[in-house]
Amino acid sequence: MLAMSRIEEGCTVLILTESGKKYLVAVRRGKKFHSSEGYIDLGELVGREYGCVVRSNTGVRMTAHKPLLQDLLSKVRRITQIVYPKDLGYMVLISGIGPGSVVLEAGTGTGVLTATLAYYVRPTGRVFSYDINQEYLEAAHYTLERLGLREYVELKHGDVYSEVSEKDVDAVFLDVPEPWKAVGNAWKALKPSGRLLSLSPTIEQVVETVENLRVGGFDDISCVEILVRDIRVKRGMTRPEFLMRGHTAYIVSARKSEINSRHITDDTWNENISPT
Ligand SMILES: C[S@@+](CC[C@H](N)C(=O)[O-])C[C@H]1O[C@@H](n2cnc3c(N)ncnc32)[C@H](O)[C@@H]1O
Repeated sequence: MLAMSRIEEGCTVLILTESGKKYLVAVRRGKKFHSSEGYIDLGELVGREYGCVVRSNTGVRMTAHKPLLQDLLSKVRRITQIVYPKDLGYMVLISGIGPGSVVLEAGTGTGVLTATLAYYVRPTGRVFSYDINQEYLEAAHYTLERLGLREYVELKHGDVYSEVSEKDVDAVFLDVPEPWKAVGNAWKALKPSGRLLSLSPTIEQVVETVENLRVGGFDDISCVEILVRDIRVKRGMTRPEFLMRGHTAYIVSARKSEINSRHITDDTWNENISPT
């Protein structure tokens, strides 16, 4: 679905209307797409190139674009908090993953991060995604199937704080309430120099995670928050929008290194961070 250049029957298009509204629509001959700005015959789109312009019955201009992964993800039914595009982009870039990478992730939740990781590691890579909640795994299974990404993901019912069976993974992504409890398992699963990315909504979670990373065999530890402002562009009046998405999460990143035993004290060394 993401690779074709001409619109075929059965594929999904992103209809962008003159007023800026966006709709994901399955193309079928004999079917109409109805909106508040009029309707179009979907059969008219078959065989045309993506980006083609059609007029609704009321004369409104509508463009049929090829949906990006982000367009598809924006319509996924959310059953948990999700990772937002501004955070996804940064996390993927600094993780160093690409086609062929093997990734360990927890928790799966709605599957937005899972789908993004699968998209970037395909066709030869794999994502091992853990969640303690079977219902979420089932919903993520359905979402990944609809996105055509299911074959790149192994969904695993399990607690990332207790045990993971993967070894030599290129990167670990954590979006769980107590990521510091997964630091030891992440260390064991990662390749030497592998990347750990952890996403948390509160500073308290960040402090706990970073302190455990420092003594748990990680270095190059950093924490960022990404803020994105939309800019309204109109000659003579160009300025940031008044409203923006505020806080979503802090992103902690680190690289696996050799354990530096000088940093380990009886207070800090416990089961959660022990890498052996
Ligand atoms: C915020 S959601 C993850 C959302 C996901 N990253 C997304 O983009 O859709 C957090 C998930 O972590 C799962 N979880 C909590 N504790 C866990 C644990 N110890 N091991 C694995 N998953 C866990 C929860 O069940 C929940 O689905």
